[in-house]
Amino acid sequence: MSNSQHGFATRAIHAGQEPETTTGAVNVPIYLTSTYAQQEIGKNKGYEYSRVSNPTRTALEQNLAALEGGSSAHVFASGMAAISALVAMLKTGDHVICGSNVYGGTPRLFNQIVAHYGIEFTYVDTSDPENVRRAFTPRTRLVHIETPTNPLMQLTDIRAVSAVCREQTKRVGEPVDLCVDNTFMSPYFQRPIELGADLVMHSTTKFLNGHSDGLGGVLVATRPDHAERFAFIQKCTGGILSPFESYLILRGVKTLAVRMRQHDASGREVAAWLAKHSRVEKVFYPGLPTHPQHELAKRQMSGFGALITFEAGSLERANDVLKRVRVCTLGESLGGVETLISHPATMTHAALGEEGRRKIGITDGMVRISVGIEDVEDLIGDLEQALA
Ligand SMILES: Cc1ncc(COP(=O)(O)O)c(C=O)c1O
Repeated sequence: MSNSQHGFATRAIHAGQEPETTTGAVNVPIYLTSTYAQQEIGKNKGYEYSRVSNPTRTALEQNLAALEGGSSAHVFASGMAAISALVAMLKTGDHVICGSNVYGGTPRLFNQIVAHYGIEFTYVDTSDPENVRRAFTPRTRLVHIETPTNPLMQLTDIRAVSAVCREQTKRVGEPVDLCVDNTFMSPYFQRPIELGADLVMHSTTKFLNGHSDGLGGVLVATRPDHAERFAFIQKCTGGILSPFESYLILRGVKTLAVRMRQHDASGREVAAWLAKHSRVEKVFYPGLPTHPQHELAKRQMSGFGALITFEAGSLERANDVLKRVRVCTLGESLGGVETLISHPATMTHAALGEEGRRKIGITDGMVRISVGIEDVEDLIGDLEQALA
């Protein structure tokens, strides 16, 4: 049993996860069923067909809504499927303002698919809320941001951008919603709804699941009209999360609090160590006092997390480090218990092209680390020999 008064770790373990009524099983069963027996025409036990809803998925959706402080949550087959559902609530002629430095797959979806349906996108540096204000048009319906950004760890003041959206809502008489992709921080360290966001999105593939063994995405909403719309989109488009993957995330979330505490402690240690290393030219980590938005980071987040980017100096030097690591794994993604190390220019941000990367400041020498929860001495030892 849990309620909204309980602490984060209690809600992570119990919200949406009452012991099962037939046997008392403490874990939510994986309901492997596509359909449900009905008692008579129009009479059922709350479930009709698993594209519409499934009890394992319901448990996860209740759990994630409780963790983000939203009124509902809807889960999808991946983070990108969740972002697709987010923009599926828009109409031809609507306008979206998106952070210029968000996950590369997001502008790829917007520009190469959604724009064909007559929805317009403007990309701005949302670290200055005035850029958002200047980009509004009377048809703006959505502002989509990521904070911190990948890989430059730039922050956006969620409260300030939310205030700008509220003003615009009043001006045009139509909701201008703020959606925050909270993948990097998880609700353990950052809760955008408490700061005024209308919607929160996650690639649950990352910290929420935490074990690099399944994809998923979620949209957390604060208003009934959004909840209705997202449920309708799940039913119509079918890009929902499977019962098995819903279970994996439920299981992952149970340890979110302890994992995030360790990610954060090790993240701080690795970042401080890198910052002192003679072969590292620059470290991007909001927890370092040298980060230009360190004060905002302390205000808006309750930890600094596990993502660190550093400048190795050149493509060759970056490749040297990436070839030599033994404990860290070279690979895309982040947020797992294992430390992943990657090269933004040729991996996550390859699709932007050289010019696109140059514009936002991503160099060929940048290396990004998602610090896992291994012994931090082993991680530092590994980086030491790789940088030597
Ligand atoms: C911040 C962020 N948002 C969204 C996504 C897309 O999520 P998925 O890979 O689960 O589709 C990613 C994936 O790396 C991400 O890092």
